[in-house]
Order: sequence, then structure tokens, then C-alpha cells
Amino acid sequence: MTGYLAPTKKVRVADLARKKADGEKWAMLTAYDYATARVFSQAGIECLLVGDSAANVVYGYDTTNQVSVDEMAYLGAAVVRGAGNALVVMDLPFGSYEASDEQCVRTATELVHRTGAHMVKLEGGQRIAPRIRALKDAGLAVCAHVGFTPQSVDNLSGFKVQGRDAGAERLRVDTQAVVDAGADMVVFEMVPAELAAELTAESPIPTIGIGAGSGTDAQVLVWHDMADFPAGDHRAKFVRRFGTVGEDLAAAAAEYKRAVHQGEFPGPEHAF
Ligand code: KIV
Repeated sequence: MTGYLAPTKKVRVADLARKKADGEKWAMLTAYDYATARVFSQAGIECLLVGDSAANVVYGYDTTNQVSVDEMAYLGAAVVRGAGNALVVMDLPFGSYEASDEQCVRTATELVHRTGAHMVKLEGGQRIAPRIRALKDAGLAVCAHVGFTPQSVDNLSGFKVQGRDAGAERLRVDTQAVVDAGADMVVFEMVPAELAAELTAESPIPTIGIGAGSGTDAQVLVWHDMADFPAGDHRAKFVRRFGTVGEDLAAAAAEYKRAVHQGEFPGPEHAF
């Protein structure tokens, strides 16, 4: 592995807050299994998100709203086992926290018990602020998620940039609400870059952008998008491809098939 060194000690919430104070950017990637968590942590990725995007890229559901607590828990436990010193954030899936503060704390504590994750993430701003406070009161570290929130895709009438025009005030209110509720950091998804930069400058907690321009404290991407391992045909405008994993894997599988078909694999060196 070249370039970046994995952190030599466990990444903590306070380290990410310190990076914000020092103007030092950091990176988050999704991870859904042991092997990728190991690779990303060894590459120096500070923070791994067991995102409910697992619904799409791991389980093949149409929306993130179909993944269950159980399905998330098995992935989260595997990621924590491979995460090394990276801080692991566990998404609370749709339907597991909206009903009440009690439901929210119950789900979050169950996921932390079952996975060993260090932080939980939930979607929503002002409407979800009481849940964030309840999680903090229960002693958990919390990441908020505002702007475009995929679990509300139908309520938001599709994948749309949030925070434009009159929506800017909504985003301000939501950001202030999650900060006041005690969130440790906040994801801004699909919001205008200028507004995200402005809110980042005002925010006492680290901001993590996805489709929010370069002015946030950190960035996050679904790793399948980052490395071009497509799980569907849609490619978001905000994605940059840093690898060709899908292509490489297809080529490796085709070459394996060829070698098997032609009796070239296994060779004598692979036999006992
Ligand atoms: O589920 C997810 O992967 C996410 C991010 C991409 C922010 O919530």
C-alpha cells in the first residue's frame, strides 16, 4: 500500500473535532464487510460508515428503506472486526428509530451491542433532533444526516438537491437543530456547495459532504461508487471514480473461466 499510513491509534470523535479546528480534511468511506474494512483502514481512511446503502449495493433492494436492523447488524459486526483503528459509524435503518425516543435508543444500543460500532447515524434535521438528544443522553456518539436524506426519497419526490432557494433556510434550521441536540458530526448530502461551505464555517461540529462541494470538513462516498464497482446503472453527478474494480473483477472472472475451460488452471504448482 503506498502513500497513506493507517492511523497508529484508534480514531476518536475528539480527533475528528481536532482536525476541524486545525483545518485538516479527513475521509469517510462506506464498508459492508471484513475484507474491505481492512483494506480501507490500512489505506488510512479515518472513518468507515456501515451505510444503509447496503440495501442497494449488498442486498440489491430498490431503496434503502427495505434493509432491516438484523441485515445491518451482521454487516456492521464484520466491518468492526476488520476496521483496525478506523472509527466505525453504524446507520440506523428506516423504521428502526422514527416512532419514539425509546425505539431509537433501543435500536441504537442493540446495534452497538451486536457490532461494536463506535457511533450511530440517523437521517433528519429538526424533526429528528429529540432522537439525537435521547441517544446522547444514553451515552452514544451520534452522526446526523441532513439535506437529501435517502430514507425520505418518496417524501422528497425523488433524488433532488436540497437547500436551494427557500430550502436554504430549511437546511440552516436543520443543521442548527442537530448541533443543538448534541450531534458529534453531520453529513450534508446533495446540497449547494456554497451553502455547505458557509454552514461548515459556522458549525462547531465536523461536517461531511456527499454531493456538497469541497467546503465541508470531510467527504464520504459509497465505496462502490468511489472504486467503480457498479451495483446499478445510475451514476450520481457528485461521484468521482478512483478505481476500476467492476472492470477488473469482470476481467479476472473471465480469465479464470478461460483458464478452467482450457484445463490450464489448476496447474501442477496448485496441486498437492
Ligand atoms: O448509507 C449511506 O451510504 C449513506 C452515505 C452515503 C452518506 O448514508
